[in-house]
Amino acid sequence: VSRAVVVVAAGSGTRLGIGDAKAFVPVAGERMLTRAVRTVFTLAEPTFVVVVAPTARLDECRALVAAVAGPAAALTSVVAGGADRHASVQAGLDALPDGIEWVGVHDAARCLTPAAQFAAVFERAETTGDGVVPALPVTDTVKRVEGDLVVETVDRSALVGVQTPQVFPLRALRDAYAAAQRSETDDAGVFRAAGGVVRTVPGHADAFKITTRWDLARAEAIVADSAL
Ligand code: C5P
Repeated sequence: VSRAVVVVAAGSGTRLGIGDAKAFVPVAGERMLTRAVRTVFTLAEPTFVVVVAPTARLDECRALVAAVAGPAAALTSVVAGGADRHASVQAGLDALPDGIEWVGVHDAARCLTPAAQFAAVFERAETTGDGVVPALPVTDTVKRVEGDLVVETVDRSALVGVQTPQVFPLRALRDAYAAAQRSETDDAGVFRAAGGVVRTVPGHADAFKITTRWDLARAEAIVADSAL
């Protein structure tokens, strides 16, 4: 296999207010992590999966991943995460087997991301050789502020919101992480800071990140609607 996905699932989910590691919270009866990993195993291209889990839940996570992977269990690995997302991604990259050329980094909290989005991002990365992120136009009017004072409207036609999976040539992403001077909020930020080229492909509304109770309710509504 030349493709891998690192699913980061080591966050605490404080903003969800559930008192549980977020990726282990069920959405319509099935955990976010189960949903996220299962999607990767539906891809036509064989793909190695590394799940980065909270240290306290490694055994539980291994059982969960084995159950989802079935016969593909040999293509999985579960490792402990770090203090922030950056450290968790780095732990995931360190766990990849030899031979992987393209890696996607994916938030477990974006558990309804369609399989077609994974396929599109990997394909674009492989044909261009660059980093690729799924992106959607910004629909709100966006203001630059100083404290509570509005300074100006930012031209939203030049802005997008980005999602995951974000796909990169593995060697270049490893180098970028090794060179990183500060914590970025996504992998494309790390890759750009090291001089890499990052392109966009169209994202999907269902690939939103579940952060709040409202997001969870929205995710349950989407599942009910599609009877997943
Ligand atoms: O907290 P937030 O939702 O922005 O985190 C995005 C993703 O990064 C989540 O899937 C979360 O589990 C993961 N994460 C992690 N390790 C951390 C913090 C966040 O794997 N220390």
